[in-house]
Amino acid sequence: MALARTRAVALLGVDGALVDVEAAITSGVPGLHLVGLPDAALNEARSRVRAAILTSGEHWPNRHVTVSLFPASMPKRGSGFDLAIAVALLGAEGAVSAEACAGTVMIGELGLDGRVRPVSGVLPAVLTAADAGVETVVVPKANLAEASLVPGVRVIGAGSLRALVARFRDLPPPDEGEDESCEEASAPQPNGLAARSRARRGDLDLADVRGQADARKVLEVSAAGGHHLLFTGPPGCGKTMLAERLPTLLPELDRDAALEVTAIHSVAGGLPTGQPLITHPPFCAPHHTASRAALVGGGSNRLIQPGAVSLAHRGVLFLDESPEFAGGVLDALRQPLEEGEVVIARSGATSRFPARFTLLLAANLCPCAATKVRDCTCAPSIRQRYLARLSGPLLDRIDLKSELKEVSRAELRYDLELAESSATVAERVLVARDRARRRLADLPWRTNADVPGRELRRRFAPPHGALAAIDQPLADGRLSARGLDRVVRVAWTLADLTGKDAPTASEVTQAFGLWQGR
Ligand SMILES: Nc1ncnc2c1ncn2[C@@H]1O[C@H](COP(=O)(O)OP(=O)(O)OP(=O)(O)O)[C@@H](O)[C@H]1O
Ligand SMILES: [Mg+2]
Ligand SMILES: [Zn+2]
Repeated sequence: MALARTRAVALLGVDGALVDVEAAITSGVPGLHLVGLPDAALNEARSRVRAAILTSGEHWPNRHVTVSLFPASMPKRGSGFDLAIAVALLGAEGAVSAEACAGTVMIGELGLDGRVRPVSGVLPAVLTAADAGVETVVVPKANLAEASLVPGVRVIGAGSLRALVARFRDLPPPDEGEDESCEEASAPQPNGLAARSRARRGDLDLADVRGQADARKVLEVSAAGGHHLLFTGPPGCGKTMLAERLPTLLPELDRDAALEVTAIHSVAGGLPTGQPLITHPPFCAPHHTASRAALVGGGSNRLIQPGAVSLAHRGVLFLDESPEFAGGVLDALRQPLEEGEVVIARSGATSRFPARFTLLLAANLCPCAATKVRDCTCAPSIRQRYLARLSGPLLDRIDLKSELKEVSRAELRYDLELAESSATVAERVLVARDRARRRLADLPWRTNADVPGRELRRRFAPPHGALAAIDQPLADGRLSARGLDRVVRVAWTLADLTGKDAPTASEVTQAFGLWQGR
């Protein structure tokens, strides 16, 4: 019996596990048998691997071939195992040295012509391999830039099975196209990557928005503390405009957060090939027709995809025209808002995706879309019911509520030089975030909004007297216990923005006003 081993990675959400791929060639009925819980796509690997081996000019063993994937209990999805299977098989055949390929992790789908096709989830897979101490990882060449973001592991981008085999045989690369050769990654270059995301934010600026001083201030508070925010107001007053500019106020992601965010987008597919590291907080704005799965993640057993809440991880989830979302869809937000992650269970295995985002909702006050309040033709009951589509429990979790008024013509015309730019506001946001960060040093949270209620009450209760301002609302029920925590968090952010060491009665009063929305 001839035997050889390679390795691959199975992903559940953004968490991965190493998988041993073992090929054995024995006498018996010719054919390729895959064992170890492969899904349907992986089962199709049999035909792809066979075709790829033949078109790469290698011999196909006309004997009984068993490929097993360990641990067998771990579900394995998708086509990313092709490369590991093909090389294990060639190792068992003696076509490449079994020692040379043992221990190497290989990720990639094979085309029938032997090319190595890109797959999703390469970044979390390489992170898994690096964490497990693997020395060398082979990935599809198109995923090389993404894979080489991971420090401490040697990464080879394979263009074709033929070129990879030549490399294992220590032969010069076959004479073929540039894309089909193998290429080794150079060291990660984080600095070159940051430039792209800066350039991308360049075209939106808070200075484009005239008037709306209150709403701009609220946007700044949201950026400084990571607080959820609701904008209401008549059509055309600038709700969408303001919302789209929230990311321009946020600081760049640190390296760990950037990798975390990029890993999620890697699983979702669609990272740009050249400079894949996402260094700026993402902005995700699903349309109001989005399904529950699109919002919180899901899909079939074969393809479990992160939802908008995860694509917005460490950034902004913007729901424009929020009352138009189907009720059940919005209610699905509650769990990720509480937990900061989404867990999707399918056939005995659970996939996990982080989902810690700032929620930004926009809503008109009524469905008739009148631009002036006096033109509104809606009955009071309809107006009331429209906003009530945003359920109480959801609104309870929104720290800041801001009602915009229509901008006057004078403001539209003359307010130009008064409007602060994103850069100016972002600087204040950064200073406030630094204050919070220093206060939260050694604690696992980064912003005021992250601090759980229990810890907030224990460690960060505002000084005595500051809370007296909200005794009355608490007594008469206008402010709930959950609401109180939210008010206190925002009060801390207001203190951070004004350079105070702790909130006073003034910040608490303001924060209560922002929570109430007036
Ligand atoms: N405050 C403002 N400053 C500058 N331009 C504005 C302002 N408000 C609205 N506009 C102009 O009106 C357009 C519509 O604004 P925007 O889409 O932000 O309004 P909205 O409040 O989201 O309206 P709707 O409820 O219809 O979605 C903008 O593209 C912009 O050209
Ligand atoms: Mg709008
Ligand atoms: Zn109306």
